[in-house]
Amino acid sequence: MAASRSRKKVPARKPAAGKPRAAAKPAARKSAAKPAKPAANPLGLEKKAPGQFDTLQEIALEAYRKMPAPVWDHLMGGADAEMTLRRNRAGLDGLALRQRVLVDVRQIDMSTSLLDQRMEIPVFPAPVGGFLSKVHHEGGPAVARAAVSRGTTAFIATAAKPSLEAAQAAVDRKLVFQLYVRGDRGWVEGVLDRVRAAGYAALCVTVDRNYYGRRERDIVSGLPVKEGFGDQSYQASLSWKDLVWMKERVGLPLIAKGVATAEDAELAVEHGADVVYVSNHGGRQLDHAQGSIEVLEEVVRAVAGRAEVLADGGVMRGTDVVKMLCLGARAVGVGKLLGLALSAGGEAGVARMLELMESEIRHALGLMGLTSIKQLGPHWLREVPVLGTPSSVSAYPLLEDAVRRGR
Ligand SMILES: Cc1cc2nc3c(=O)[nH]c(=O)nc-3n(C[C@H](O)[C@H](O)[C@H](O)COP(=O)(O)O)c2cc1C
Repeated sequence: MAASRSRKKVPARKPAAGKPRAAAKPAARKSAAKPAKPAANPLGLEKKAPGQFDTLQEIALEAYRKMPAPVWDHLMGGADAEMTLRRNRAGLDGLALRQRVLVDVRQIDMSTSLLDQRMEIPVFPAPVGGFLSKVHHEGGPAVARAAVSRGTTAFIATAAKPSLEAAQAAVDRKLVFQLYVRGDRGWVEGVLDRVRAAGYAALCVTVDRNYYGRRERDIVSGLPVKEGFGDQSYQASLSWKDLVWMKERVGLPLIAKGVATAEDAELAVEHGADVVYVSNHGGRQLDHAQGSIEVLEEVVRAVAGRAEVLADGGVMRGTDVVKMLCLGARAVGVGKLLGLALSAGGEAGVARMLELMESEIRHALGLMGLTSIKQLGPHWLREVPVLGTPSSVSAYPLLEDAVRRGR
Protein backbone atom coordinates (compact mmCIF):
# COMPACT_ATOMS: atom_id res chain seq x y z
CA MET A 1 0.00 0.00 0.00
CA ALA A 2 2.86 2.33 0.77
CA ALA A 3 3.21 5.19 -1.65
CA SER A 4 6.61 5.31 -3.25
CA ARG A 5 8.57 8.17 -1.70
CA SER A 6 10.17 8.89 -5.05
CA ARG A 7 6.86 9.22 -6.77
CA LYS A 8 7.41 11.30 -9.89
CA LYS A 9 4.91 13.49 -11.62
CA VAL A 10 3.93 11.67 -14.74
CA PRO A 11 2.00 13.08 -17.64
CA ALA A 12 -1.58 11.90 -17.95
CA ARG A 13 -1.75 8.56 -19.68
CA LYS A 14 -2.46 8.77 -23.39
CA PRO A 15 -5.21 6.56 -24.75
CA ALA A 16 -3.85 3.38 -26.27
CA ALA A 17 -4.00 4.43 -29.88
CA GLY A 18 -2.90 1.15 -31.38
CA LYS A 19 -0.57 0.84 -34.34
CA PRO A 20 -1.24 2.99 -37.38
CA ARG A 21 -2.87 0.98 -40.05
CA ALA A 22 -0.91 -0.10 -43.11
CA ALA A 23 -1.41 2.28 -46.02
CA ALA A 24 -4.44 1.40 -48.12
CA LYS A 25 -3.76 -0.27 -51.46
CA PRO A 26 -4.05 2.19 -54.36
CA ALA A 27 -7.51 2.06 -55.86
CA ALA A 28 -7.78 0.49 -59.30
CA ARG A 29 -9.47 3.58 -60.67
CA LYS A 30 -8.85 7.11 -59.51
CA SER A 31 -11.68 8.28 -57.36
CA ALA A 32 -12.61 11.92 -56.76
CA ALA A 33 -12.96 11.24 -53.01
CA LYS A 34 -9.97 11.95 -50.73
CA PRO A 35 -8.07 8.82 -49.62
CA ALA A 36 -9.29 7.67 -46.22
CA LYS A 37 -6.97 8.75 -43.37
CA PRO A 38 -5.65 5.98 -41.20
CA ALA A 39 -7.92 5.84 -38.14
CA ALA A 40 -6.21 7.58 -35.24
CA ASN A 41 -8.06 5.46 -32.75
CA PRO A 42 -8.93 2.11 -34.25
CA LEU A 43 -9.92 0.54 -30.92
CA GLY A 44 -12.46 3.29 -30.34
CA LEU A 45 -10.73 4.35 -27.10
CA GLU A 46 -11.51 7.93 -26.32
CA LYS A 47 -9.65 10.15 -23.95
CA LYS A 48 -11.90 11.12 -21.08
CA ALA A 49 -12.29 14.69 -19.94
CA PRO A 50 -10.46 15.32 -16.67
CA GLY A 51 -12.65 14.48 -13.73
CA GLN A 52 -14.91 12.20 -15.73
CA PHE A 53 -15.15 9.08 -13.61
CA ASP A 54 -16.91 5.98 -14.86
CA THR A 55 -15.51 3.73 -12.15
CA LEU A 56 -14.48 4.02 -8.54
CA GLN A 57 -10.99 2.96 -9.61
CA GLU A 58 -10.62 6.14 -11.65
CA ILE A 59 -11.55 8.23 -8.64
CA ALA A 60 -8.93 6.48 -6.55
CA LEU A 61 -6.30 6.77 -9.29
CA GLU A 62 -6.95 10.47 -9.75
CA ALA A 63 -6.63 11.03 -6.00
CA TYR A 64 -3.39 9.06 -5.93
CA ARG A 65 -1.92 11.17 -8.71
CA LYS A 66 -2.97 14.42 -7.08
CA MET A 67 -2.00 13.80 -3.47
CA PRO A 68 1.44 14.39 -2.01
CA ALA A 69 2.81 11.14 -0.55
CA PRO A 70 2.43 12.10 3.16
CA VAL A 71 -1.21 13.11 2.65
CA TRP A 72 -1.88 9.88 0.74
CA ASP A 73 -0.28 7.88 3.54
CA HIS A 74 -2.32 9.72 6.14
CA LEU A 75 -5.55 8.85 4.33
CA MET A 76 -4.78 5.28 3.32
CA GLY A 77 -2.63 4.16 6.23
CA GLY A 78 -3.53 2.69 9.60
CA ALA A 79 -2.08 2.19 13.06
CA ASP A 80 1.16 0.34 13.81
CA ALA A 81 1.59 -2.70 11.55
CA GLU A 82 -1.75 -1.98 9.81
CA MET A 83 -3.08 -5.46 10.57
CA THR A 84 -6.59 -4.25 11.43
CA LEU A 85 -6.67 -2.22 8.25
CA ARG A 86 -5.77 -5.35 6.28
CA ARG A 87 -8.24 -7.48 8.24
CA ASN A 88 -11.05 -5.11 7.29
CA ARG A 89 -10.37 -5.99 3.68
CA ALA A 90 -9.48 -9.63 4.34
CA GLY A 91 -12.78 -10.10 6.18
CA LEU A 92 -14.70 -8.74 3.23
CA ASP A 93 -12.65 -10.66 0.68
CA GLY A 94 -13.11 -13.86 2.62
CA LEU A 95 -16.83 -13.88 1.85
CA ALA A 96 -18.29 -14.86 -1.51
CA LEU A 97 -21.78 -14.00 -2.71
CA ARG A 98 -24.33 -16.61 -3.75
CA GLN A 99 -26.46 -15.90 -6.77
CA ARG A 100 -29.82 -16.93 -8.22
CA VAL A 101 -30.79 -16.57 -11.86
CA LEU A 102 -33.84 -15.94 -14.02
CA VAL A 103 -35.48 -13.51 -11.64
CA ASP A 104 -37.10 -10.31 -12.93
CA VAL A 105 -34.74 -7.67 -11.54
CA ARG A 106 -35.82 -4.61 -13.54
CA GLN A 107 -36.80 -2.81 -10.36
CA ILE A 108 -34.40 -2.91 -7.44
CA ASP A 109 -35.10 -1.15 -4.14
CA MET A 110 -31.94 0.01 -2.41
CA SER A 111 -33.55 2.34 0.08
CA THR A 112 -33.07 2.08 3.82
CA SER A 113 -33.47 4.42 6.78
CA LEU A 114 -31.54 5.75 9.73
CA LEU A 115 -33.51 6.90 12.76
CA ASP A 116 -36.65 7.21 10.60
CA GLN A 117 -34.91 9.28 7.96
CA ARG A 118 -35.13 7.71 4.52
CA MET A 119 -31.89 6.98 2.66
CA GLU A 120 -32.06 6.24 -1.06
CA ILE A 121 -28.90 4.19 -0.82
CA PRO A 122 -27.46 2.18 2.07
CA VAL A 123 -24.18 4.13 1.99
CA PHE A 124 -23.13 7.34 3.71
CA PRO A 125 -19.97 9.42 4.16
CA ALA A 126 -18.45 8.39 7.49
CA PRO A 127 -17.04 11.15 9.68
CA VAL A 128 -13.68 12.19 8.31
CA GLY A 129 -12.40 15.21 10.19
CA GLY A 130 -9.42 17.49 9.58
CA PHE A 131 -8.41 15.57 6.46
CA LEU A 132 -11.26 17.07 4.45
CA SER A 133 -9.86 20.57 4.73
CA LYS A 134 -6.40 19.35 3.73
CA VAL A 135 -7.77 18.50 0.30
CA HIS A 136 -10.73 20.86 -0.09
CA HIS A 137 -11.29 24.49 0.86
CA GLU A 138 -14.71 23.72 2.28
CA GLY A 139 -14.75 20.09 3.47
CA GLY A 140 -17.88 19.78 5.65
CA PRO A 141 -20.42 21.64 3.49
CA ALA A 142 -19.10 20.00 0.29
CA VAL A 143 -19.55 16.50 1.71
CA ALA A 144 -22.97 17.41 3.13
CA ARG A 145 -24.25 18.73 -0.22
CA ALA A 146 -22.89 15.77 -2.15
CA ALA A 147 -24.49 13.25 0.23
CA VAL A 148 -27.87 14.98 0.26
CA SER A 149 -27.82 15.28 -3.54
CA ARG A 150 -27.64 11.45 -3.67
CA GLY A 151 -30.43 11.02 -1.12
CA THR A 152 -28.31 9.94 1.80
CA THR A 153 -27.04 11.44 5.04
CA ALA A 154 -23.55 12.55 6.06
CA PHE A 155 -21.73 12.26 9.36
CA ILE A 156 -20.06 15.60 10.06
CA ALA A 157 -16.93 15.25 12.17
CA THR A 158 -15.97 17.55 15.03
CA ALA A 159 -12.86 18.63 13.13
CA ALA A 160 -14.67 19.29 9.82
CA LYS A 161 -14.13 22.82 8.57
CA PRO A 162 -15.27 25.55 8.47
CA SER A 163 -17.66 24.72 11.32
CA LEU A 164 -20.35 22.28 12.40
CA GLU A 165 -22.94 25.00 11.78
CA ALA A 166 -21.77 25.60 8.19
CA ALA A 167 -22.10 21.93 7.24
CA GLN A 168 -25.65 21.63 8.59
CA ALA A 169 -26.67 24.98 7.09
CA ALA A 170 -25.48 23.87 3.64
CA VAL A 171 -28.36 21.39 3.26
CA ASP A 172 -32.02 21.16 4.12
CA ARG A 173 -31.79 17.66 5.50
CA LYS A 174 -30.85 17.01 9.13
CA LEU A 175 -27.39 15.42 9.33
CA VAL A 176 -25.52 13.49 11.99
CA PHE A 177 -22.87 15.22 14.07
CA GLN A 178 -19.92 13.11 15.22
CA LEU A 179 -18.24 14.06 18.46
CA TYR A 180 -14.58 13.56 19.24
CA VAL A 181 -13.83 14.61 22.75
CA ARG A 182 -10.93 16.96 22.16
CA GLY A 183 -11.13 19.06 25.30
CA ASP A 184 -12.56 18.87 28.79
CA ARG A 185 -16.16 18.52 29.97
CA GLY A 186 -16.80 22.25 29.64
CA TRP A 187 -15.62 22.11 26.03
CA VAL A 188 -17.95 19.16 25.32
CA GLU A 189 -20.89 21.06 26.83
CA GLY A 190 -20.24 23.97 24.51
CA VAL A 191 -20.07 21.71 21.44
CA LEU A 192 -23.23 19.81 22.36
CA ASP A 193 -25.18 23.03 22.77
CA ARG A 194 -24.01 24.18 19.34
CA VAL A 195 -24.97 20.81 17.79
CA ARG A 196 -28.47 21.09 19.14
CA ALA A 197 -28.84 24.70 18.03
CA ALA A 198 -27.53 23.91 14.54
CA GLY A 199 -30.39 21.46 13.97
CA TYR A 200 -28.65 18.09 13.65
CA ALA A 201 -30.71 14.88 13.63
CA ALA A 202 -28.48 12.86 15.93
CA LEU A 203 -25.28 12.81 17.96
CA CYS A 204 -22.67 10.21 17.12
CA VAL A 205 -20.05 9.75 19.82
CA THR A 206 -16.87 8.02 18.71
CA VAL A 207 -15.95 5.68 21.54
CA ASP A 208 -12.81 3.99 20.23
CA ARG A 209 -10.48 6.93 20.62
CA ASN A 210 -9.58 7.28 24.30
CA TYR A 211 -5.99 7.30 23.05
CA TYR A 212 -4.99 8.50 19.60
CA GLY A 213 -3.82 5.55 17.44
CA ARG A 214 -0.13 5.32 16.57
CA ARG A 215 -0.20 6.10 12.89
CA GLU A 216 3.42 5.59 12.12
CA ARG A 217 3.23 6.84 8.57
CA ASP A 218 2.30 10.27 9.95
CA ILE A 219 4.90 10.08 12.70
CA VAL A 220 7.63 9.28 10.17
CA SER A 221 6.52 11.80 7.52
CA GLY A 222 6.03 14.53 10.14
CA LEU A 223 2.59 15.40 8.81
CA PRO A 224 1.11 17.80 11.37
CA VAL A 225 -2.01 16.16 12.75
CA LYS A 226 -3.78 18.01 15.53
CA GLU A 227 -4.67 15.51 18.24
CA GLY A 228 -6.69 17.69 20.54
CA PHE A 229 -6.35 20.31 23.18
CA GLY A 230 -7.31 20.96 26.77
CA ASP A 231 -7.40 18.09 29.19
CA GLN A 232 -6.41 14.90 27.30
CA SER A 233 -6.98 12.83 30.43
CA TYR A 234 -10.70 13.66 30.24
CA GLN A 235 -10.83 11.92 26.85
CA ALA A 236 -9.06 8.89 28.32
CA SER A 237 -11.44 8.79 31.31
CA LEU A 238 -14.73 8.61 29.40
CA SER A 239 -17.20 5.95 30.48
CA TRP A 240 -20.73 4.81 29.62
CA LYS A 241 -22.07 7.30 32.19
CA ASP A 242 -20.63 10.16 30.13
CA LEU A 243 -22.52 8.88 27.11
CA VAL A 244 -25.78 9.01 29.05
CA TRP A 245 -24.95 12.56 30.12
CA MET A 246 -24.10 13.60 26.54
CA LYS A 247 -27.38 12.24 25.22
CA GLU A 248 -29.33 14.11 27.91
CA ARG A 249 -27.42 17.33 27.30
CA VAL A 250 -27.85 17.33 23.52
CA GLY A 251 -31.43 16.01 23.57
CA LEU A 252 -30.97 13.97 20.38
CA PRO A 253 -30.82 10.28 19.45
CA LEU A 254 -27.42 8.75 20.24
CA ILE A 255 -25.12 6.75 17.99
CA ALA A 256 -22.16 4.94 19.61
CA LYS A 257 -19.42 4.61 16.97
CA GLY A 258 -16.56 2.18 17.46
CA VAL A 259 -18.32 -0.79 19.05
CA ALA A 260 -16.64 -4.09 18.20
CA THR A 261 -17.87 -6.69 20.70
CA ALA A 262 -21.17 -8.20 21.82
CA GLU A 263 -20.43 -7.05 25.40
CA ASP A 264 -20.10 -3.42 24.42
CA ALA A 265 -23.11 -3.65 22.11
CA GLU A 266 -25.14 -4.78 25.11
CA LEU A 267 -23.80 -1.92 27.25
CA ALA A 268 -24.40 0.60 24.49
CA VAL A 269 -28.06 -0.39 24.29
CA GLU A 270 -28.39 -0.41 28.09
CA HIS A 271 -26.97 3.12 28.20
CA GLY A 272 -29.41 4.49 25.68
CA ALA A 273 -27.70 4.15 22.29
CA ASP A 274 -30.30 4.32 19.55
CA VAL A 275 -27.73 3.19 17.00
CA VAL A 276 -24.72 0.91 17.48
CA TYR A 277 -22.06 1.67 14.88
CA VAL A 278 -19.58 -1.16 14.31
CA SER A 279 -16.21 0.32 13.44
CA ASN A 280 -12.52 0.07 14.15
CA HIS A 281 -11.82 3.51 12.71
CA GLY A 282 -10.67 2.01 9.42
CA GLY A 283 -7.77 0.32 11.24
CA ARG A 284 -6.44 3.63 12.55
CA GLN A 285 -6.84 2.94 16.28
CA LEU A 286 -6.25 -0.48 17.92
CA ASP A 287 -4.02 -2.53 15.69
CA HIS A 288 -4.47 -6.31 15.61
CA ALA A 289 -8.17 -5.85 16.24
CA GLN A 290 -10.61 -7.97 14.25
CA GLY A 291 -11.93 -6.78 10.92
CA SER A 292 -15.25 -4.91 11.13
CA ILE A 293 -17.20 -7.48 9.15
CA GLU A 294 -15.81 -10.22 11.38
CA VAL A 295 -17.47 -8.69 14.46
CA LEU A 296 -20.64 -7.47 12.80
CA GLU A 297 -22.69 -10.63 13.36
CA GLU A 298 -21.95 -10.84 17.10
CA VAL A 299 -22.91 -7.19 17.56
CA VAL A 300 -26.13 -7.58 15.57
CA ARG A 301 -27.01 -10.64 17.66
CA ALA A 302 -26.33 -8.81 20.95
CA VAL A 303 -28.32 -5.74 19.89
CA ALA A 304 -31.23 -8.05 19.00
CA GLY A 305 -33.28 -5.38 17.28
CA ARG A 306 -33.21 -2.96 20.24
CA ALA A 307 -31.15 -0.43 18.26
CA GLU A 308 -30.19 0.12 14.65
CA VAL A 309 -26.79 -1.14 13.49
CA LEU A 310 -24.38 0.64 11.15
CA ALA A 311 -20.93 -0.51 10.08
CA ASP A 312 -17.80 0.62 8.30
CA GLY A 313 -14.28 -0.61 7.65
CA GLY A 314 -12.57 -1.39 4.37
CA VAL A 315 -15.61 -0.67 2.21
CA MET A 316 -14.52 0.25 -1.31
CA ARG A 317 -17.08 -1.55 -3.48
CA GLY A 318 -20.80 -2.06 -3.85
CA THR A 319 -20.27 -5.77 -3.16
CA ASP A 320 -18.63 -4.83 0.18
CA VAL A 321 -21.78 -2.92 1.10
CA VAL A 322 -23.94 -5.89 0.12
CA LYS A 323 -21.88 -8.20 2.37
CA MET A 324 -22.23 -5.87 5.37
CA LEU A 325 -25.97 -5.64 4.78
CA CYS A 326 -26.16 -9.45 4.62
CA LEU A 327 -24.72 -9.58 8.14
CA GLY A 328 -27.21 -7.09 9.55
CA ALA A 329 -25.94 -3.55 8.97
CA ARG A 330 -28.69 -1.09 8.07
CA ALA A 331 -26.31 1.14 6.14
CA VAL A 332 -22.58 1.34 5.63
CA GLY A 333 -20.07 4.19 5.96
CA VAL A 334 -17.11 4.95 3.73
CA GLY A 335 -14.08 6.77 5.12
CA LYS A 336 -11.05 6.36 2.88
CA LEU A 337 -13.24 6.27 -0.20
CA LEU A 338 -14.78 9.58 0.84
CA GLY A 339 -11.32 11.09 1.20
CA LEU A 340 -10.33 9.76 -2.22
CA ALA A 341 -13.45 11.15 -3.87
CA LEU A 342 -13.14 14.59 -2.30
CA SER A 343 -9.47 14.75 -3.28
CA ALA A 344 -10.15 13.60 -6.83
CA GLY A 345 -13.16 15.72 -7.68
CA GLY A 346 -14.33 17.90 -4.79
CA GLU A 347 -18.05 17.96 -4.10
CA ALA A 348 -18.85 16.55 -7.56
CA GLY A 349 -16.34 13.77 -6.93
CA VAL A 350 -18.12 12.73 -3.73
CA ALA A 351 -21.53 12.83 -5.43
CA ARG A 352 -20.15 10.74 -8.30
CA MET A 353 -18.58 8.25 -5.90
CA LEU A 354 -21.98 7.74 -4.23
CA GLU A 355 -23.64 7.40 -7.61
CA LEU A 356 -21.10 4.77 -8.69
CA MET A 357 -21.58 2.96 -5.38
CA GLU A 358 -25.32 2.90 -6.07
CA SER A 359 -24.68 1.51 -9.52
CA GLU A 360 -22.34 -1.19 -8.17
CA ILE A 361 -24.88 -2.21 -5.51
CA ARG A 362 -27.66 -2.35 -8.14
CA HIS A 363 -25.50 -4.54 -10.38
CA ALA A 364 -24.59 -6.85 -7.51
CA LEU A 365 -28.22 -7.26 -6.39
CA GLY A 366 -29.44 -7.76 -9.93
CA LEU A 367 -26.82 -10.39 -10.63
CA MET A 368 -27.67 -12.11 -7.35
CA GLY A 369 -31.31 -12.23 -8.47
CA LEU A 370 -32.59 -9.84 -5.77
CA THR A 371 -35.03 -6.96 -6.04
CA SER A 372 -34.52 -5.37 -2.63
CA ILE A 373 -31.81 -5.03 -0.02
CA LYS A 374 -34.42 -6.27 2.47
CA GLN A 375 -33.97 -9.76 1.00
CA LEU A 376 -30.32 -9.86 2.07
CA GLY A 377 -29.23 -12.11 4.93
CA PRO A 378 -26.31 -14.32 6.01
CA HIS A 379 -27.49 -17.16 3.73
CA TRP A 380 -26.28 -15.14 0.72
CA LEU A 381 -22.67 -15.45 1.91
CA ARG A 382 -20.13 -18.26 1.90
CA GLU A 383 -16.72 -18.24 3.56
CA VAL A 384 -13.95 -18.62 1.00
CA PRO A 385 -10.15 -18.37 0.98
CA VAL A 386 -8.87 -14.82 0.50
CA LEU A 387 -7.12 -14.30 -2.81
CA GLY A 388 -4.24 -11.85 -3.19
CA THR A 389 -2.96 -9.58 -0.43
CA PRO A 390 -5.68 -7.47 1.16
CA SER A 391 -4.74 -3.81 1.64
CA SER A 392 -6.35 -0.40 1.40
CA VAL A 393 -5.75 -0.40 -2.37
CA SER A 394 -6.47 -4.05 -3.17
CA ALA A 395 -10.10 -3.49 -4.15
CA TYR A 396 -8.86 -1.57 -7.20
CA PRO A 397 -6.41 -3.54 -9.37
CA LEU A 398 -5.51 -0.50 -11.49
CA LEU A 399 -4.66 1.49 -8.37
CA GLU A 400 -2.71 -1.43 -6.96
CA ASP A 401 -0.68 -1.51 -10.19
CA ALA A 402 -0.09 2.25 -10.07
CA VAL A 403 1.04 2.14 -6.43
CA ARG A 404 3.36 -0.77 -7.19
CA ARG A 405 4.88 1.18 -10.06
CA GLY A 406 5.13 4.31 -7.92
CA ARG A 407 2.92 6.62 -9.93
C1 LIG B 1 -8.58 10.53 7.07
C2 LIG B 1 -9.56 9.96 8.05
C3 LIG B 1 -10.05 10.76 9.05
C4 LIG B 1 -10.98 10.26 9.95
N1 LIG B 1 -11.51 11.09 10.90
C5 LIG B 1 -12.46 10.62 11.72
C6 LIG B 1 -13.10 11.49 12.63
O1 LIG B 1 -12.85 12.69 12.66
N2 LIG B 1 -14.04 10.95 13.46
C7 LIG B 1 -14.38 9.61 13.43
O2 LIG B 1 -15.23 9.17 14.19
N3 LIG B 1 -13.78 8.78 12.55
C8 LIG B 1 -12.86 9.25 11.70
N4 LIG B 1 -12.31 8.41 10.78
C9 LIG B 1 -12.79 7.01 10.70
C10 LIG B 1 -13.99 6.92 9.76
O3 LIG B 1 -15.10 7.57 10.28
C11 LIG B 1 -14.39 5.49 9.49
O4 LIG B 1 -14.67 4.85 10.71
C12 LIG B 1 -13.32 4.69 8.74
O5 LIG B 1 -12.61 5.50 7.86
C13 LIG B 1 -13.97 3.54 8.00
O6 LIG B 1 -13.04 2.73 7.38
P1 LIG B 1 -12.58 2.94 5.86
O7 LIG B 1 -11.68 4.13 5.85
O8 LIG B 1 -11.84 1.69 5.57
O9 LIG B 1 -13.80 3.16 5.04
C14 LIG B 1 -11.39 8.91 9.86
C15 LIG B 1 -10.91 8.12 8.83
C16 LIG B 1 -10.01 8.63 7.91
C17 LIG B 1 -9.54 7.75 6.79
